[in-house]
Amino acid sequence: VTGRFSRRDLLAGGGLATAGLVAVGGSAVAGGSAVTGPAPAFAGPHQAGIATREQASLAFATFDVTVTDLPGLSDLLGTWTGAARRLTAGLPLQTPGGLFAPPSDTGEADGLPTSRLTLTVGFGPSLFDGRFGLAARRPVALVDLPPFAGDALDPGLCGGDICIQACADDPQVAFHAVHGLARVALGSAALRYWQSAFGRAAAGSADGSTPRNLLGFHDGTNNLDPDDPVAMDRHVWVEDSDQPWMKGGTFMVARRIRLHLEAWDRSTLDDQQQTIGRQKSNGAPLGGSWESSPVDLAAVGPTGQAVIPDNAHIRVVAPATNGGAAILRRGYNFSDGVDPVSGEMDAGLFFICFQKDPRQQFIPLQTRLSLDDALAEYLVPTGSGIFACPPGVDAAGQWGAGLI
Ligand code: HEM
Repeated sequence: VTGRFSRRDLLAGGGLATAGLVAVGGSAVAGGSAVTGPAPAFAGPHQAGIATREQASLAFATFDVTVTDLPGLSDLLGTWTGAARRLTAGLPLQTPGGLFAPPSDTGEADGLPTSRLTLTVGFGPSLFDGRFGLAARRPVALVDLPPFAGDALDPGLCGGDICIQACADDPQVAFHAVHGLARVALGSAALRYWQSAFGRAAAGSADGSTPRNLLGFHDGTNNLDPDDPVAMDRHVWVEDSDQPWMKGGTFMVARRIRLHLEAWDRSTLDDQQQTIGRQKSNGAPLGGSWESSPVDLAAVGPTGQAVIPDNAHIRVVAPATNGGAAILRRGYNFSDGVDPVSGEMDAGLFFICFQKDPRQQFIPLQTRLSLDDALAEYLVPTGSGIFACPPGVDAAGQWGAGLI
């Protein structure tokens, strides 16, 4: 370190690297862009990044909190909320600056439009252990996920005290946001894992069709409609909880699911379509004509067999075959290079879903998927996390205000 301040000096002052670092005020590049649309509002009854129409890029990180007391955790969340307000408004972070301190913002998003950046926070089960005295405030629905058949979880890609989901139409903007939050958390929270992932923004194609996953199939066709408040209230937003601080929040499950693309690529078109239960070309359900055709699970072919096979993905996970259980899916594709052992692509779906109670929604769905779903043969979950996403904040509030 050169100059008048060492990093240690900088970190010493505020008790926390965080508390004083993100000052308010100043001006900078701000605003939305004509290309990517206006920035989703940061404040509101629910956090942004859940009902928000998918952006094109994801930077998802989890953190282990390293401060050991409640005031330290509260400072961290306050600092992060202030930083998130600035970042989502397109403003650079403001840390004590000058030529002889590290630059106040890391800089890689300077001049870029906000790109519809959203930042969404969630609290993992481990935050409710003994460290902060929060054990009695853990929602009962924030269960530890059970092991599922076929899981091959890497502990380094699982868990985390706090997650941050950054979504933006520009991957550099999403990266910058998590980079900035990690930086202002120095001394208070340490990065645990980071997943970058991509998709195609839902509004990004000429014909407005649903984005495709790495299997080449449209993904999101029969998703819950985030613009339907009745469906969101019914399946996603927490209304009654044993924990009042979760009202207006939701539970996130995030799973890094690697796909065996080489095996998939060698399977026939018919096999692929029978596995999903839809046509690859236009996304129509088997037996239907268009992507929007209703899924007819009762249809039988001339020889009496089900048109949508018993083990087709869309039958096994459909609300109709799971007592009405529905989830809001918001996943992104990932590609993390080449597996050094097998030489195969380390690529797949970073599956994210939101729901009011994972015990009634994700867990039973994933249990059936892992046992009965033809798709299970082509995938292997390698990372896993569950998080309680608190409600949104008002103009002055901070993330997790009701909790801490
Ligand atoms: C790599 C893993 C996965 C891939 C590639 C995948 C792919 C697909 C595809 C192509 C569709 C059809 C289009 C659509 O309606 O969106 C679909 C539907 C669906 N998937 Fe997945 N999926 C994966 C994992 C999961 C998991 C883990 C769950 C839940 C535990 C899940 C739940 C659903 C649901 C609920 C539907 C809609 C079914 C319906 O009602 O028609 N998927 N998925």
